[in-house]
Amino acid sequence: MIGSTSWDPKSWRRHTAAQSPLWPDLEHLSRVEDELSVKPPLVFAGEARRLTQQLAHAAHGKAFLLQAGDCAESFTDSSADAIRDKLKIILQMAVALTYASGVPVVKVGRIAGQFAKPRSDNYEERDGVRLDAFRGHIVNDEAFTESSRRPNPDRLIEAYHQSVATLNLLRAFTTGGFAALTRVHAWNQEFVTNSPQGKRYEVLADEIDRALAFMRACGVDLDQDHGLSSVDFFTSHEALILPYEQALTRRDSLTGDWYDCSAHMLWIGDRTRQIDGAHVEFLRGVSNPLGLKIGPSTSVEDLRRLTSILNPDNVPGRLTLISRMGRDRVSEMLSPLVEALRRDGAEVLWTCDPMHGNTFKARGGQKTRRFDDVLTEVAQFFAVHQSLGTWPSGLHVELTGDNVTECLGGGDQLVEDDLDINYTSICDPRLNASQSLDMAFHVSEFLQSAVTSRGARSL
Ligand code: PEP
Ligand code: CO
Repeated sequence: MIGSTSWDPKSWRRHTAAQSPLWPDLEHLSRVEDELSVKPPLVFAGEARRLTQQLAHAAHGKAFLLQAGDCAESFTDSSADAIRDKLKIILQMAVALTYASGVPVVKVGRIAGQFAKPRSDNYEERDGVRLDAFRGHIVNDEAFTESSRRPNPDRLIEAYHQSVATLNLLRAFTTGGFAALTRVHAWNQEFVTNSPQGKRYEVLADEIDRALAFMRACGVDLDQDHGLSSVDFFTSHEALILPYEQALTRRDSLTGDWYDCSAHMLWIGDRTRQIDGAHVEFLRGVSNPLGLKIGPSTSVEDLRRLTSILNPDNVPGRLTLISRMGRDRVSEMLSPLVEALRRDGAEVLWTCDPMHGNTFKARGGQKTRRFDDVLTEVAQFFAVHQSLGTWPSGLHVELTGDNVTECLGGGDQLVEDDLDINYTSICDPRLNASQSLDMAFHVSEFLQSAVTSRGARSL
């Protein structure tokens, strides 16, 4: 039984790992694991602890988590501009949320390691030809040929190097002046500026500018203030490919605890959260903050057991529950789960992924989502917490800073015929920059009401 036995970085190997690629050459995989296990860590244990502390505030109603990025990062589309634009839109969303609600936003990217995808089918068939499903660039390539689809362990090394390069750039952007609040106007992208959301953002940025000018006039040195001149930005991905995660797991010299140093935060997907499965076994033993996706098939009993396995000491900030129920099911499915854990006194963050329960195929065959469905799920999520008196701790979305046409509706009012104009996702459809900003303005209104009710309750 998981939880009652001892843990080590390879104890997951005694359990079944759902969604594992069928690696054709296990010796090759093992050589790659050896190579990765002596590489420098991507993140430090102290940084992961800092994120846990910030998430603890979000668990207690004093902060809000924004976790966002690609569905799947790509080895071929990873230019500095693309990374910068993703960061820009996340910063813009965070500013909009903080400005409206007065609540600090903890920023976590689905970035610098989000390369692996669980799939509903192991195979894909086209015109009578059946090949392995595409499982993300850390495993294979999306081109529909036998050699592209064959899982290749060398891709684990490439995923590591690509994550290093992405993280290096993110660290430069977030600490080197680009993310300073004085640059709030510069984050608005040209193609968004003239949209209603872009204009609304400009108004907000002008107000922030005025406030900063006021502070400067009062003698505050804005460049010296860490909170104004840089931002904390953390990385996360789904910990799906366990040989990779194990190889990057290190013991922290300060505390003696194990950390998965491939990212600050790791999550378990809805398809790999089996109670005695390998993913739960692996992640219970690392001290990073964890996410757990919970879909409509999650029972109260399962959730209770998972919560006690993944957070046995009930540490606030350790466990983020990411519900992804679909817009029609969230009210009915989420309430009993929240109520049960509230009764247990479980210290968790409740966050909403309004993307994965609202995907469907458009007439042209592309996977898409309606902006209105996504927004409805978020609204329902906030309503559940409002009625139970619990804190909605965060939002988890798939987005990109580019001007893509992957989700329908939103400020741009994209329709199905527009989908082919610029559909570049290698997996699920993402909100584009103006849809993301639109979402942030709606969510900031929900968050404002949550703050008001929290205030009223504490009177
Ligand atoms: C994802 O977050 O990209 C994902 C696959 O989600 P889920 O596990 O919730 O289906
Ligand atoms: Co996805």
